[in-house]
Amino acid sequence: MNQEAWKKVEDAVAASKTTTIKQLFAADPDRAAKYTLSAAGWTLDYSKNRIDANVMKALFGLAKAANLQEEIEKMFTGAKINRTENRAVLHTALRNCDPAAQVFVDGKDVMPDVRAVLAKMGAFADAVRSGAHRGFTGKRIKYVVNIGIGGSDLGPVMATLALAPYSKRSIKSFFVSNVDATHLAETLRQVKAAETLFIVASKTFTTQETMTNAESARDWLVKELGGSGSAVAKHFVALSTNEAEVVKFGIDPANMFAFWDWVGGRYSLPSAIGLSLMISIGPKNFGKMLKGYWKMDKHFRTARLEKNMPVVLALLGILYSNAYGAESYAVLPYDQYLSRFPAYLQQMDMESNGKAVTKDGKPVAYSTGPIEWGEPGTNGQHSFYQLIHQGTHLIPADFIGFCKTHNPIGDHHDKLMANLFAQTEALAFGKTAEQCRADGDPEELVPFKTFEGNRPTNTLLADDLTPETLGALVALYEHKIFTQGVIWNIYSFDQWGVQLGKVLAKNVLKDLVAEKPELKHDSSTNALIAHYRKVLGRA
Ligand code: F6P
Repeated sequence: MNQEAWKKVEDAVAASKTTTIKQLFAADPDRAAKYTLSAAGWTLDYSKNRIDANVMKALFGLAKAANLQEEIEKMFTGAKINRTENRAVLHTALRNCDPAAQVFVDGKDVMPDVRAVLAKMGAFADAVRSGAHRGFTGKRIKYVVNIGIGGSDLGPVMATLALAPYSKRSIKSFFVSNVDATHLAETLRQVKAAETLFIVASKTFTTQETMTNAESARDWLVKELGGSGSAVAKHFVALSTNEAEVVKFGIDPANMFAFWDWVGGRYSLPSAIGLSLMISIGPKNFGKMLKGYWKMDKHFRTARLEKNMPVVLALLGILYSNAYGAESYAVLPYDQYLSRFPAYLQQMDMESNGKAVTKDGKPVAYSTGPIEWGEPGTNGQHSFYQLIHQGTHLIPADFIGFCKTHNPIGDHHDKLMANLFAQTEALAFGKTAEQCRADGDPEELVPFKTFEGNRPTNTLLADDLTPETLGALVALYEHKIFTQGVIWNIYSFDQWGVQLGKVLAKNVLKDLVAEKPELKHDSSTNALIAHYRKVLGRA
């Protein structure tokens, strides 16, 4: 992080720190309008933050000092900004809806392949939805089981839930990710082999959890239907970058939907990884989702920093992480359809910016990626909001809501949205001791019923939850995370931190199943392995 520019942020914060959000509003009747932005169907009200013009100016200065606009251009034009893996980062090419667009990686335009895979996905999704593609015994596909984990699971799960109002209800979607056999077993109890399509989603096609689940699903299908290879051909497709492994597994490359090493797992929803979603909502709606992404992409690439929604969100996050010491932030969608959105964002944010080394390989001198968490409102209000309101931690929060509902029953939606607006009001303005007394609270309860307020929130509002607004929302957070990575000077697109656990798990597995293992771990791990073996009679 540029220290000179950061010093200016610290100075601006020091000068304004004692002014509360309440005082900021009292001093400026136009505050809400001043700190509201619109882009790609979304309105962001960020007025309920601990910011004034000087803090924002210093924050924009920080973005400029990091050459953010040049870095954005590098990403969009296919530069190999994922240097530790020597890869371009081009999830934006996946949703570039300009039919004339060209994007080059190593001198090759990737757009013809992007369009070809999308067309292949569309044709296959249509065939499954219409019944043209049938199972081995001639029955229609009624169940789609996506087998994948991490980025090959969380995006499709989140979006399939979010866009359920657009789904073909006669086709049920399932997602199996955990290597715990319970996940697969409980799913297989709910489907019929002759009517099930398995989608094996794995960028590498070597991920232990996914391959174990895929092999067990294949064994189950062959046992249920017979026919071996010919049954597998009708009931299994693969989404991957690794054709050799797909073929080794026994899936015909004709039934493979490709993507490329420049698509990071956690950014892969708009790639072939979205096939289960496309089967659910249809290619047209999938296309609309891509348009939403694209709109936000164009906004991010072209809007000046001061009007740039992902940039503003990113800078506010940095303000709280680095100037106020906030360790986490909450994402609180007031929409049941977005119930998996926080989990999806967790991977996107924490796997991207959970880094402690700068691009020069030196330890960072400041905190980076925050802990991201959340649950849909209003449920969260009845569990963890107490801590946000009156606890000792500062937890900035994004509130996400929609003016219209897909389920207009009675006054549910007005109540839902009233809660959203009221929470941000309460968090910002709190309740003084005087107000408590005026409400007749007994003096001994006043300290407990007083709310300090001054809790920062952003409110993100769209008219309704559609494929387009969902795509734009995902792109908004992707670009927020990118911006933070640029400013923190870290690599956001690798994930070496997950490798060690994978390697050690393989070693431990050998020791769990070996006839006579020579346990060479630490004493704790050795004892745990020995205990496990003893219980299973393998001692
Ligand atoms: O957990 C690490 C990770 O590599 C993620 O980045 C990725 O989304 C996930 O595993 C799944 O990987 P794959 O799609 O190759 O199976």
